[in-house]
Amino acid sequence: MFMGMVREKTEKIVGLKAELQWLWHISSVYKKEIFVITLISVISSIFSLSINLCLKYVIDTVTGENKAHVAFYAVVAVVLMLSNIGFSALSSRIRIKIYVRIQNELQLDVYGKIFNAQWESLREYRKGDLINRLNSDVSSIANGAIGWWPNLLSVLTQFVYSFFLIVMNDPTMALIAFISAPFSAFMSRFMIRRMHEHNLRIKELSADMMAYQTDSFGNLQYIKAFGIADVVHRKLKEKQNAFKEENLDYNKVSIVMSTLLKLAGLLVTFVSYAWGIYRLHQGAITYGTMVMFLQITLTLSGSFNALLKVIPTTINLGTSASRIMGIENLPSEDVTPTPQERQFIDESLKTGVDIRCQNVTFSYSDEPNVNILENTSFTIKKGETVAIVGGSGLGKTTFFRLLLGILSCTAGKIELENVNGDIMTANASMRELFAYVPQGNPITEATIAENIRMINPDATDEEIIGVLKMACAYDFVKELPEGIHAHIGENGKGFSEGQIQRIAIARALIKDAPVILFDEVTSALDEETEWRLLENIRTHLHNKTVIFVTHKLNTLQISDKIFKVENRKFQRVHFEVS
Ligand SMILES: Nc1ncnc2c1ncn2[C@@H]1O[C@H](COP(=O)(O)OP(=O)(O)O)[C@@H](O)[C@H]1O
Ligand SMILES: [Mg+2]
Repeated sequence: MFMGMVREKTEKIVGLKAELQWLWHISSVYKKEIFVITLISVISSIFSLSINLCLKYVIDTVTGENKAHVAFYAVVAVVLMLSNIGFSALSSRIRIKIYVRIQNELQLDVYGKIFNAQWESLREYRKGDLINRLNSDVSSIANGAIGWWPNLLSVLTQFVYSFFLIVMNDPTMALIAFISAPFSAFMSRFMIRRMHEHNLRIKELSADMMAYQTDSFGNLQYIKAFGIADVVHRKLKEKQNAFKEENLDYNKVSIVMSTLLKLAGLLVTFVSYAWGIYRLHQGAITYGTMVMFLQITLTLSGSFNALLKVIPTTINLGTSASRIMGIENLPSEDVTPTPQERQFIDESLKTGVDIRCQNVTFSYSDEPNVNILENTSFTIKKGETVAIVGGSGLGKTTFFRLLLGILSCTAGKIELENVNGDIMTANASMRELFAYVPQGNPITEATIAENIRMINPDATDEEIIGVLKMACAYDFVKELPEGIHAHIGENGKGFSEGQIQRIAIARALIKDAPVILFDEVTSALDEETEWRLLENIRTHLHNKTVIFVTHKLNTLQISDKIFKVENRKFQRVHFEVS
């Protein structure tokens, strides 16, 4: 809800291990490509270190007597250097290719999961949060998938190789290189959890800002109308501040961690320099070895720093993983009919169904003690035109959601019976039998024809014009320069509410379903247009079941049955023209 309660939903930390396992699973699809990139990185870091080795030999031969090999080592060094330039280009090319692939595939997958999720399970996710997950989290996972292994393994290779080079030349030096290892391991372990928590919080706050912005743009008109732009502005500033605070806190933790680790690294560097100079002074190592040591110490501290960067990257990756896992684990809806359901649907599409509600009770999961409907039973026969009336917030729209299987009854059941006497429970896979015009502004940003063809891709222009006529929309559509190809902007921009309502009705009619649900669809129509629309419905849809949720008298007049929602029940009432 706009400006309202920002749900303080702190997602559980799944645990870095579980997150990494999930990432492993995701990236195993691309293991060939990731392997190639990793291999290139590893080879290229081996080459880099070997260049140091070559230079050692060059220096040793120059300072010593054996001059014959200078050219050879110099050439090898140059070849290695050139290869690395080539590798870097190649790896960049492969990286971008699989980055985009993973990003697109994962995004599509998550997008699909959102649309297949049970509607109620999505309640805690706001639009902006979902958008953030779909973009920034998916993108950091794609980045992680291409970067994590190559980085880690090339850093480890550097470590092992440099260690090997040092051991071969001076084992004591190698020992020195590791004096800080236990300290670093202890530190990292201690800090990782805290960093993980901060990171998750940062992502949530960023999603919160996105959600807030999306919502406020949707409400531009009323914000202007009430002159509350400054209020909205201030609210964003508060959110930015919360985001800033959290970022600074995270930064503090990570600075403390990396500073301590860097100091440990520095100590190692100093000690090994001192040791190297001492050994050189003793004449125990050559100048070449000393230069190589200096180089390698640099590489070591470089790879050490790279390793430090792996930690926050991994944490960031883990957090994004947990946010995507949250979506992937949402319970999904079963929309595929069983063979029996399929047969039932096929047999009922033309002939229609009776709808029987038996002791239906329903409460939303966030308020399980508040029954919206309670133990209500009634029947709507095929071909009937039915009006549902009753005060706002009594459960009329909820009833439609139950019919469509978007929600399920808490107790009792809704059954559908066809002319053969077959009976099925209304659920998500039965939706094919229903056409639905929801309350509100239910149109997609696209042309009129595209909106209608979303429901029936094979509809001809004539058929589209046919349903537009039936919905009393063709009067204004034919006046548009582009006719049925006129573009409808975001949220129906460019059209009036009543016009959008009629286009939405036409879109439902193109489905040609046996049961049509209209949720307050004539609320913005003038009396005369409404009357013409109802006449059309009565003449063209007389063999369909048409259920109106309405407050309008006209609709009651054309209805065969009227239900009033009262005391959480659907009560049959009779309309008398006074
Ligand atoms: N998604 C939802 N989650 C929780 N409660 C809801 C939800 N949608 C509606 N409600 C509650 O259910 C009741 C009935 O809502 P609804 O069916 O939309 O009423 P109406 O009769 O006006 O169409 C209202 O009190 C509303 O607060
Ligand atoms: Mg409603």
